[in-house]
Amino acid sequence: MNVSIEPVTGSPLIKVTLTNNYLSASFYNFGARMHQLFTPNKEGLSENILLSYDSVEELLSDKSYFGAVVGPVAGRIKHAQWKDFPLEKNCGTHHIHGGSQGWSYQFWTIELLEDPDVIGIRFHLEDSVSGYPGPINVRVTYKLVDHSLIMTTDYQSMNPTIVNPTSHSYFNLSGEGQQDLDTHSLLVNASHLLETDKETLPTGKIIPVKELPLDVSKMQSFPAIFSSFKEGLDDCFILNKTLPTALTLTEQTSGRKMEIATTNQSVVLFSTTGFDAPFLINGKPMHSNYGLAIEPQQFPDSVHHPSWPSIELPPLQKRQQETIYRFSCL
Ligand code: GLA
Repeated sequence: MNVSIEPVTGSPLIKVTLTNNYLSASFYNFGARMHQLFTPNKEGLSENILLSYDSVEELLSDKSYFGAVVGPVAGRIKHAQWKDFPLEKNCGTHHIHGGSQGWSYQFWTIELLEDPDVIGIRFHLEDSVSGYPGPINVRVTYKLVDHSLIMTTDYQSMNPTIVNPTSHSYFNLSGEGQQDLDTHSLLVNASHLLETDKETLPTGKIIPVKELPLDVSKMQSFPAIFSSFKEGLDDCFILNKTLPTALTLTEQTSGRKMEIATTNQSVVLFSTTGFDAPFLINGKPMHSNYGLAIEPQQFPDSVHHPSWPSIELPPLQKRQQETIYRFSCL
């Protein structure tokens, strides 16, 4: 059990690494982001199972939320408008992922958890720069417990606002990005999917998973997923709350398995389809279908769908969401 803290020379970045007998995870204060996560493969070899920037300069100019906490509100908000309150239009005429000054792009303060039985770190932010009503106080706690990483997000605001944070790690369980998504399989314990329009905004229609071109509530390989969802996945699945595991992802060459449980009502999955970029991720240029962003959250654009669960946060009311990532081998 070990914790290390390394300031990155010549930058405001601080890297924290947590290690227990099974897992090792590193984080940056920039966006309270998870940078790397090492888990053993079926031979016991520990490798990084996230898509991670090779260079600190690229990480500091990130525009795609690699490993970051996204907030105050994840996903798109139509016409960048909540009631009478205008938000930044950073996605055409819409708002996305908390805007250009959102939580992913702020520097958070770091608290190490002192309890001798716990390996953990807590990031704090008082957000008054994203442009949302606030200030919003948020704490993100990451703990390693045996084979699990537990992420807890607590928040409250001085003034009425909206909050729907997520974590935006891209997973590639092959280790060090050796394979692409086509060696992975996925099961989502979902009951429905939110239909989206051409701009990836929810239309309001909710489709039962059994009516999708492929039933992802059963284990499906990515080649099968890509042949049914021609543009890949960039979709919000409503979770079946009667089941303890929200999602299972496996990878055949490494034998790795990840199971996710979350208090959130839905999960957005983004398969990086069409996401080609020159920066290096695990030694390779970023490319289509390289990893799966798994973003547990409440429904996107719910401010425009009054019958959906609300993300409005009254003053001084405390809210919490928790997501547990459990690792094992097949
Ligand atoms: C989410 C969105 C995608 C994309 C990625 C990050 O998954 O739904 O369209 O913006 O974030 O780039």
